[in-house]
Amino acid sequence: MFVTIEGVEGAGKSTLVALLSDALKKRGIDHVVTREPGGTPLGERIRSLFLEPEAAIDPLAEAMLMAASRAQLVRRLIRPALERGQLVLCDRFWDASVAYQGYGRGLGPERVIELNRIATESLSPDLTLLLDVPEEEAQRRMHGRSGELDRMEQESRAFHRRVAAGYHALAERFAERYRVLDARRGPEQLADEALAAIEQQTRPRSRR
Ligand code: TMP
Repeated sequence: MFVTIEGVEGAGKSTLVALLSDALKKRGIDHVVTREPGGTPLGERIRSLFLEPEAAIDPLAEAMLMAASRAQLVRRLIRPALERGQLVLCDRFWDASVAYQGYGRGLGPERVIELNRIATESLSPDLTLLLDVPEEEAQRRMHGRSGELDRMEQESRAFHRRVAAGYHALAERFAERYRVLDARRGPEQLADEALAAIEQQTRPRSRR
């Protein structure tokens, strides 16, 4: 089973991924955790380049960089793990490119989906958990973190608003694999809800 976690900056994805992985371990569910951009040595180098505050990257080049990192991750890690029967938990996947480059940068969702169909050889998640958080709360959390803001975090409020709207459009379009979670809840409760969603998605359709 292929599970992805999505959301705007400050939604609390990293905390959820860590708690969820612990919960899966306790239940003896064999899984691998990875992230995008990154997850492979090549992907991590692309990530540093991509997030550098001074980098000037054209929107189409942005989408292509994300697709390259993703192609490497899918072929080297995700598909082999799924073929071994492991659950894969990925912090972001191609929905992030649709939200950020498609809606945020204005490339349009269809072009980005097409590019990613090629990059992933048509791999889509079985379940996507979208952490939904109000704009003010997300901004507060993002600015409350220590360290310099990265290139994407430095983007305007309007950009982040388009990204959030893009995620909601995706959640409607791919409703069969999306679960929207209220990220204002405590981390433990969110992890419980996420685990329940995974268990529900694992059950045969007829018994759901
Ligand atoms: P992260 O901070 O959640 O790890 O994500 C890194 C940043 O990269 C975040 O601002 C979202 C952005 N991003 C894209 O713009 N397109 C993509 O396809 C992915 C995976 C991430």
